[in-house]
Amino acid sequence: MADKQHKFVLDESEMPTHWYNVTADFPTPPPPPLHPGTHEPVGPDDLAPLFPIELIMQEVSSERYVKIPEAVRDVYKQWRPSPLYRAHEWEKKLGTTARIYYKYEGVSPAGSHKVNTSVPQVYYNSLHGVRRLTTETGAGQWGTALSYACALFGIECEVWQVGISYDTKPQRRTLIEVFGGQVHRSPSRMTQAGLQFPEDHTGSLGIAISEAVEVAAGAEDTKYSLGSVLNHVLLHQTIIGEEALLQLAKAGEDKVDMVIGCAGGGSNFAGLAFPFLRGKLAGDSDPRIIAVEPTSCPTLTKGEYRYDFGDTVGMTPLLKMYTLGHDFVPSPIHAGGLRYHGMAPLVSHAVHEGWVEASAIDQHECFSAALEFARTEGFVPAPESSHALAQARREALAATESGTEPVIVVGLSGHGLLELNAYAEFMTDHLADDTFSAEAAADALAHTPQI
Ligand SMILES: Cc1ncc(COP(=O)(O)O)c(C=O)c1O
Repeated sequence: MADKQHKFVLDESEMPTHWYNVTADFPTPPPPPLHPGTHEPVGPDDLAPLFPIELIMQEVSSERYVKIPEAVRDVYKQWRPSPLYRAHEWEKKLGTTARIYYKYEGVSPAGSHKVNTSVPQVYYNSLHGVRRLTTETGAGQWGTALSYACALFGIECEVWQVGISYDTKPQRRTLIEVFGGQVHRSPSRMTQAGLQFPEDHTGSLGIAISEAVEVAAGAEDTKYSLGSVLNHVLLHQTIIGEEALLQLAKAGEDKVDMVIGCAGGGSNFAGLAFPFLRGKLAGDSDPRIIAVEPTSCPTLTKGEYRYDFGDTVGMTPLLKMYTLGHDFVPSPIHAGGLRYHGMAPLVSHAVHEGWVEASAIDQHECFSAALEFARTEGFVPAPESSHALAQARREALAATESGTEPVIVVGLSGHGLLELNAYAEFMTDHLADDTFSAEAAADALAHTPQI
């Protein structure tokens, strides 16, 4: 192995040409989405008011590889291939026998992995003369990513931002506006979905999705864009793991023991993990693959695997997924992107079938790991990404105790430079404890449709 090499980079010419579709390799197929009225599997026609045909076909595709369009590859090259780092300094601080690598998506224009899917989504919409895209955003990362991609392809972007994040993260809102997008606080007074909640409600991703879907469904020239959860979104993110595999080979690692990512709707986790899962499904390798969520929104660890709506009001198709109930509203933690009641059906399927593990960690432990990471590796992690780091730290310390030398690959999905108020709260001991109400989740689950 190279001596003390920190970064493993790929040339633009080495950037993967295809996204990987894990559906092709699962031994049992994931259950299909169902129409909310008929409870029959949804067809392309049901999705046509919201998405362009290319994305609908990707949603239902069982092809193993999907070619990345040239126009998308061209934009990707603004920041891709993203670097893979060996965390030498953090390892030293931890005194660990583990070798830790992190794949850093914070180098993108929007500061997170989200542009990996906003660019192809906007590109496909641009082929059909769509005038405007609507979407939801939590912390603001997805809204920023969509706004940037819309600016490139000349499409208007309208974003419903979760109320608590709108109130506490004004800089994210400004960044969305810098790229040309328009931002509304959710719940807004502009939609029937929003009007079901008081104006000062803290909001949730589920409510914001309902608002954005309602507006798109009601306008001929407008479509909707989702930043996570659906199969096509996860597909676009697999460029992360495909690159990481090439970079680990350059680092001289032929065996990976653990792959760790944070999971809100599941997209960055799946993007990193699914190319590694391919080897595991084929029996060629056997890494532990771990999805990490907040204890205040423990979808995978405390939710139920069943059909539920993707949004709060109940407008989307029914998805078979781990869920806390579509009207469950998580407590307002800083990792806004992890406050989602459900989980991507493909990630849920992988967990349910035993291919992927799940873990829940509270935000104090996450910020403590993030601070240690920032003080050694120099990057300030997004609060969402800090969940993956906290799990990696647990595993690295356990390795030292057991005298093993695992190779750990962690997804650092974004930077936290616009989340410094969260760091300030942590450093001044003002960070709230995570709360999770099992009763509220049981109550919300009681409202999920019986299939
Ligand atoms: C930096 C970052 N990481 C992770 C997430 C969680 O989303 P997902 O689970 O789809 O990757 C978000 C969502 O906003 C995010 O901004």
